Amino acid sequence: MNIIISKTKDEASKKVAELFASDISGGVIKTVGLATGSTPLDFYKYLRAAQPDCQAITTVNLDEYVGLAANHDQSYSYFMHEHLFKDVAFAKHYLPDGLATDSAAECARYDEVLAENPIDWQLLGIGGNGHIGFNEPGAAFDGKTQRVQLTEATLAANARFFDSIEEVPTEAYSMGIGSILNSEKIVLLAFGEEKAAAIKAMIEGPMTNEVPATALQNHANVTVFLDEAAASLLTK
Ligand code: PGA
Repeated sequence: MNIIISKTKDEASKKVAELFASDISGGVIKTVGLATGSTPLDFYKYLRAAQPDCQAITTVNLDEYVGLAANHDQSYSYFMHEHLFKDVAFAKHYLPDGLATDSAAECARYDEVLAENPIDWQLLGIGGNGHIGFNEPGAAFDGKTQRVQLTEATLAANARFFDSIEEVPTEAYSMGIGSILNSEKIVLLAFGEEKAAAIKAMIEGPMTNEVPATALQNHANVTVFLDEAAASLLTK
């Protein structure tokens, strides 16, 4: 893993936006995998400012809440529109459909999308519990798209975006770890001391399903961007 530590989240996010612009400039990158949450917000801010040419690029997102319509203001579809898609033009967008009535069919549909659009460049955050996408502790390293039950820790972490914890959807559709590992290049961002333990486990700990991000130790092209707080427990 290539690890880049910056003083602040803002500085790191700017570097990621520069890396993205440089990586897509050759025209080789056709599909990018995108993520939601607080972590990528500054990265998206810098993309909106820099306006790289993404018109030939397709996006696939990691996950979506079960039960939320695409236009719900807490859906990940809405998040992507607000923070990126309404200001930067891409060729096409894919996200799981939170309102799909047949879960198995929806997972199969998304796996098909991923098969037809192999991910060249995948953006990831990490949960305080080490999850990537919504692949919670225990998830299989070869998993495909699944409907998953969110852990108490994840519900509590996500409650900050809702009026109360009761309103946080308890399930999501998530791209599996196997599909994430199929990406040509992975760029993981983590900021703040609340991510420090997960980052230490991901980089220095043993590979274990209990920390889903340790699956990345097996991938040949992972770059991790950290601020000093998220890197604070690293010893090597
Ligand atoms: P966050 O979530 O960016 O809101 O911290 C990251 C994640 O859970 O993957």
